[in-house]
Order: sequence, then structure tokens, then C-alpha cells
Amino acid sequence: MKTFFTLALFMLCHTASAQIIYSPSGVMRAEFKLTDRGEPSYSLFLGKKEVIKPCKLGLVLKDAPSFTEGFTVLRTDTSTYFEVWQPVWGEVRNITNHYRELAVKLHQAQSNVNLTIRFRLFNDGLAFRYEFPEQPQLTYFIVVDELTEFQLTGDHKAFWIPGDYDSNEYPYSITNLSQVDATIADRHTEIGVRSPIGKKFVQTPLLLNTDGGMYINIHEAALVNYPAMQLQVKDNALLMSHLVPDAVGNKAYLQTPFQTPWRTILASYKATDLLASKTILNLNEPSKIANPEWIKPQKFLGVWWEMHVGLATWNYANQSNIALKNTDWKSLTPNGTHGATTLNTKRYIDFAAEHGFDGVLVEGWNVGWEDWFGKWKEDVFDFVTPYPDFDLAELKNYAHDRGVKLIMHHETSGSVTNYERKLDEAIHLMKSYHYPAVKTGYVGKIIPRGEHHDGQWMVNHYLRVADKLANNQLMVDAHEPVRPTGLHRTYPNWMASEAARGNEFNAWSVGNPPEHETILPFTRLMGGPMDYTPGIFQIKMDFFKPGSPYQVHTTLAKQLALYVTMYSPFQMAADLPESYRARPDAFQFIKDVPVDWDDTRVLLAEPGDYLAIARKAKGKPDWFLGAITDEEKRALPVTFDFLDDRQSYVVTIYGDALDAHWKDNPMAYEIKKFIVNKRSVVKLNLAAGGGAALHIKPASAEENKKVKRYRPD
Ligand code: NOJ
Ligand code: CA
Repeated sequence: MKTFFTLALFMLCHTASAQIIYSPSGVMRAEFKLTDRGEPSYSLFLGKKEVIKPCKLGLVLKDAPSFTEGFTVLRTDTSTYFEVWQPVWGEVRNITNHYRELAVKLHQAQSNVNLTIRFRLFNDGLAFRYEFPEQPQLTYFIVVDELTEFQLTGDHKAFWIPGDYDSNEYPYSITNLSQVDATIADRHTEIGVRSPIGKKFVQTPLLLNTDGGMYINIHEAALVNYPAMQLQVKDNALLMSHLVPDAVGNKAYLQTPFQTPWRTILASYKATDLLASKTILNLNEPSKIANPEWIKPQKFLGVWWEMHVGLATWNYANQSNIALKNTDWKSLTPNGTHGATTLNTKRYIDFAAEHGFDGVLVEGWNVGWEDWFGKWKEDVFDFVTPYPDFDLAELKNYAHDRGVKLIMHHETSGSVTNYERKLDEAIHLMKSYHYPAVKTGYVGKIIPRGEHHDGQWMVNHYLRVADKLANNQLMVDAHEPVRPTGLHRTYPNWMASEAARGNEFNAWSVGNPPEHETILPFTRLMGGPMDYTPGIFQIKMDFFKPGSPYQVHTTLAKQLALYVTMYSPFQMAADLPESYRARPDAFQFIKDVPVDWDDTRVLLAEPGDYLAIARKAKGKPDWFLGAITDEEKRALPVTFDFLDDRQSYVVTIYGDALDAHWKDNPMAYEIKKFIVNKRSVVKLNLAAGGGAALHIKPASAEENKKVKRYRPD
């Protein structure tokens, strides 16, 4: 189903007159204007309320007049677009892409340059980008600044992480914009000076909540060949784009024709609608992968958590300062704690096979971990040489015989040129040993060029890797990359990214506060799936390391609920097999929960407080529901009107026990069954830092007789 019609309006050399567009339902209104000085400006309304007050657009190029004023309008075009498309995997089977577009073609007399600003107005938000058409006056150019403004209507409440060119791995602060201070330690972390950029810099996706109850999300879509946009808070209500620079301070090196990523402003009075938005995905190009059958959403285990909790090591020997090239690995003395051994990997493969998991990630299989931050960092990994105790060929056969696939791990330690040099060989090895997917990693400073993780050069790198892997029918899960902007529509083999503070922080630091997972869906996840690594059952780390003060800041039941509330097609069951063996009844939920869905309903949501989401398994009548809360205990009433009217369903609920508490009693859960139908309202009792995970499936005649109807207690 696809319709597309265009209506062109011609306007010559107008300066002050405004162009107004309405979203398809009419609920949103955007306006473009040139000021008297010929400065491009825009504003946005939701209903009768201003979201963005008139504010400026512009760019500054090196050795050229600023693209901020002196413009005239050459012509404007408006059009409407409607399509329904099917993602290769995702939260819903069908996605509607419906918007009104306004393209404003501008000319600047002083430079003789043409610039188009293209707006797309959806029912839930506005997007715009700068386009530089091919023209003799502008061929190669360097962007030194982008001056896009977001003039808000007040000093809104903001959910923010500090501006940082290299990391998104922070807990969120919740303050009014005027109170943003990204350089002081916040209430959760021990980290002193936080933002390496400055006091008033924050990252996107940024969530705002106005006094009038409006939720606003500012981010970007289709970040290609350009640096990530961060935001500078000015005058409490003005946000200014701040592009991540390169090693010498420039922002982007470009060639016409070029278009910037879309700047996105989503707005709604319903927090639930914000979460359901598909606008960022819609702004990305359709899939470049013609035959995507090889792309498999999956759940996997990993030789991984045991390293994070300190039971095993990535490295094989204890020596340091080992040069990759000159080392005879077989001559080193094993340290006795190496995690990625053939034997240990087989243990995970057996467990995966027994419980129906698709994959096993193995980290620390390749040489170099003895010194991955040291003297030899630049070429410390070659991504092809296994440690002497890791037998690639034997494991290939062992996994194959049991119907399991191994997942490759490439930690680059930020040595990106080294990685690019070796990628072909690494891919060849993956194909030879039947690895379908790779988890990449970019821990530490980017070398050798001094670039930043979120700058143009690295943005291009991540995409080049995803593209090359796609050409080789390989999936990717990137850790420490730039945060996503919906590019998984174009590259559906890019299954997930980390690019936020994951569960792993709970293993070895003050960790993530209980509210963390109630904020992520409104912020980081707006751009795409996160490899959060849920499913930790052994909540307190002193179980592994006596005396350890660290713990996961949730109950066990909440860890289950995260499989539903944090969408990813690449979902880890992150804990050790022993932890799952000890609680097979709770583990059943992880085994049953899908990673690909026909439908999603966001039932209840308040950022920083709670969340309840129901999803229908792809191609099956089963629904799954996840509900989570922050540090407050709550009773959430959930309705089931998404169910089929013609039948009743049996619910298996994995919930917090009455006395559960994330700190004092995190592992106390209860599993109950009851019958519901479309008209049921169920009160979910969530402990402080707790959650509930529900598997809802059509009830058999037998179950209808035997299982009790739901009754509020
Ligand atoms: C950081 C990643 O987020 C983590 O998952 C991985 O285990 C380590 N780097 C080592 O590569
Ligand atoms: Ca990380």
C-alpha cells in the first residue's frame, strides 16, 4: 500500500512570508519563516500549544560566509507521503509512515550558494534537515558549526546525561534545564567531574517534560557521514546543537550533494504515545538488504558475565606488555582463570542446546587481552588468533552438532584503523567457522587518530562495518558506538548497540539506579535497540566475590520484565548457567519470551517512575507483558483490551513476592497462574525496584476448567 502525491507551490524571492504545514491529522503545525535579515527560522505547535518557539537554523562553514542570514526563498514544495512497510524484525509487523513535507529552497546572495531545508511533519513530531545540492560554488566543504536552535517554552524538566564525545554510559539526571550541571557528581555516581565538555552540555535523545504535561523528545535520525549532535543548554529554555568535533576541532568534511541527518522533535501529552513513535525509524532509508532471510533475531548466552563478576578473565596469561607480533602464546603460562576455554564454551553450548537458545557469545577467545590497554594497544588484537586453549575447529563442530551458533567477539579497544585493516581476514574466519554474528567493542580512546567515538570519522566507521558485514550475511551488535538513530531500518543486520549504561555496570560499580530502566525507553531506546543484557538472577555480587558491595538494582522479577520493556531482537540471557539452573521456574520466562513481535501496546508509562508494555509474539497468539517500577513500590492496574474477544487466556505471572525489595530481598519472586479475558483489569503489585513479567496464552478447555479466574487480592 503506497500513495504519494505532490503539490508544488512556487514563491520567488520572498523574505518575510511564512510557510505553514499541518501534520496529516492536523494535530501538529510547523512554520518556516525568513526573518528580515534573511535568517531561516522555524516553530512548532502541538494543538494550540507551542512546542518550539520561533528560533534559528543555520550552519557555519570553514572559509565561507556563514549560512545563517542573507537568504531568500527560491521556491517551496509541499507534499504528502503515506506508506505502510514491514520491518525485517521489530516491535510491530506493520509500520505506517505518514507525513507532510515542506522543502524550502534557499539562496544566499553573498556566497551564491543554494541550500534546501526539508521539513517532515508527522502526527507525533517534526523532523528537518539541511541539504546542499550539487553546485559549482560549493563542492568540498568543512562544517565548523551547526547552529540549529530548539527554543523551548520554559525551563522544562529534563532527563539528561552529560555531554561527552566518547561515551553515553551514564545514569540519568532529572533536573530542570536551568539546573543542568554536567560537571558535578550526581546523586547516583561516584564520578566527580563528569562531562568532559562542560557544565551545560547534554546528549540526545533528550527527554523533556513541561509544566503543562507535554513530553518532548529531541534527537536525530539517519546519522550518516556526519558527527552526532549534542545539545548546549543556553538561557534555560534554549537548546543549541553542538556537533562532536574531530581531533583538530572541525565537525564534518563533506562534498555536495549532501544532506545532514534529520533533527527530530517528538511531542505528545501521552508518555505512552511517545514510546510508540516510529518517526525516527520512518525517517531512515528502507532496507539495503534485499534477501534478509539470514537475519535472525535471537536469544543468546555468553562466556561473559563470569568475567564481569570477577570469576574468570578475558586474558589467558598474567604477563603484561606483550607484543602481539612477537609472542609465542603457547609458551605462556596460563593463569588458570581464562573464561574462553574450549571446555567452558562447550558447557555453555550444552546449556544453550538443552534450553533452546540460538547462540553463545564468547569473549576473550583471541590473543591480546593481556595488554589491551597497554603499550601495544594499537595493534594488540588481530581478531583471528585464538588462545592456545580455544579450539575453533572443535567448537565449530560441537556447536553445529547441537544446533547452536557461536557469536564472535571483536574488542577493538578503540584501535579502529587496526580493526579496519584486519576486518576482511576476521570476516573470513567468521565465515569459515560459521559464526552468524559479531559483537564489536570500542572501549577506550580512539587511536591512532585521536578521533572521538561520536565524531564523523567514527560514525562512518560503524556504518562501514555494518555494511561490510551485511555484504557477508553477518549480524552485528556494537558496544561503545555512537547512539543509534534508526539506521537499523536501512541495515537490519545491525541488531543492537550498547551506547548507554548497561546492566554490566551493576557487576562492578555503583551501578544503575532502580529508575534507570524506566528512563532508557524514553531516551536511548528511541533511536534503536539496546544490548542491555537483562536476565541477572544472582542479584548480589557477594555471592561470587565475598565482601563485594555491588549488586543489580532491581528484583529478579524485574530482570524478567526487561525482556519485554527493553525491546531488542538480540537479547542476552546474561547470567551464568548455574544461576538459571538454580531457578528453572523463573528461567522458563526467558526461554519463552520472543525477540520479534507482531504488535506492541504501551499500556502505562511515566518516565523515571514506571512502565507497562504488552507485546504479541510474531506469528503466535501469545502475548507477553512486562511492567517495571523505579525505587517506589506500586500497584499498577493493567487492562487487557488488546486480547481477542472470543476467548479466555491463561496468564503465568512471574512477579515480586510480597516481601521483595531490590535492596533487602531482591530474589523473592512468585509464579502464579490465572485466567483473564479482554475485559479483565489486573492489579500488578510491584516491589520497590521490582517488576512483573506475564506470559498470556489462549487457555485450553482443560485450563479453563482448572485454572482460577483472576481475582484481586
Ligand atoms: C565493554 C562491553 O560493554 C562489555 O560487554 C565487554 O564485555 C567488554 N567491553 C570487553 O570487551
Ligand atoms: Ca560498555
